[in-house]
Amino acid sequence: MTDTPSLISPTPTLSNKDRPPLILGVMASGSGSNFEAVARSIECGSLNAKIAVLIHNKAGIKAIDRAQQRGIPTVFLDHRNYPTREELDRSIVATFQAHQVECVVMAGWMRVITQVLIDAFVDRVINIHPSLLPSFPGIHSIDQALAARVKITGCTVHLVSLEVDSGPILVQSAVPVLPDDTAETLHARVQIQEHFILPQAIDLLADRNSHPEG
Ligand code: GRF
Repeated sequence: MTDTPSLISPTPTLSNKDRPPLILGVMASGSGSNFEAVARSIECGSLNAKIAVLIHNKAGIKAIDRAQQRGIPTVFLDHRNYPTREELDRSIVATFQAHQVECVVMAGWMRVITQVLIDAFVDRVINIHPSLLPSFPGIHSIDQALAARVKITGCTVHLVSLEVDSGPILVQSAVPVLPDDTAETLHARVQIQEHFILPQAIDLLADRNSHPEG
């Protein structure tokens, strides 16, 4: 055997698992079940990523416990302390940069973000939304779906652009709307799918990151 590579061997393509983990910064304002879904995917080895930090804008939310149980640092940035959205976003960017974050995951972040965050992480800010976008953007998407009497709704993970709940779609999943659904039962069904597609979308982004020309 020699060290000379065979000319007929295909160039080996690496799977995401052969690369360094994608460093994530997560933003949450609530229960953090999507944060937990990402953390569990990492823990079971199906997602090659690392959550470097959780930013939250509310005290006492369950997302904080979920991070602390795992030894993941949490940073509280109270939006009420910032005179403009841009100033809040500058603090978010500084926090993520200090933790070497490569990809930003908005996992139930209930604030509108600005160009400041988008420009700092171009094509690397993703959001999860509880509807099949472009249907039912904005708040109360579950109520909107019930009011519209649609038979199918779902959830979407998309790259974030300035317009709320727009930007290129990465992954979607559909669920039925049942005749006796309430907002709670429908949201619970949608969330089961959210917990599948958010890690999938991050994996897609990790792949895209390692093939930047693609
Ligand atoms: C999710 O339904 C997500 O789609 C929306 O906010 C909710 C957050 O849920 N943007 P959780 O805090 O992850 O449980």
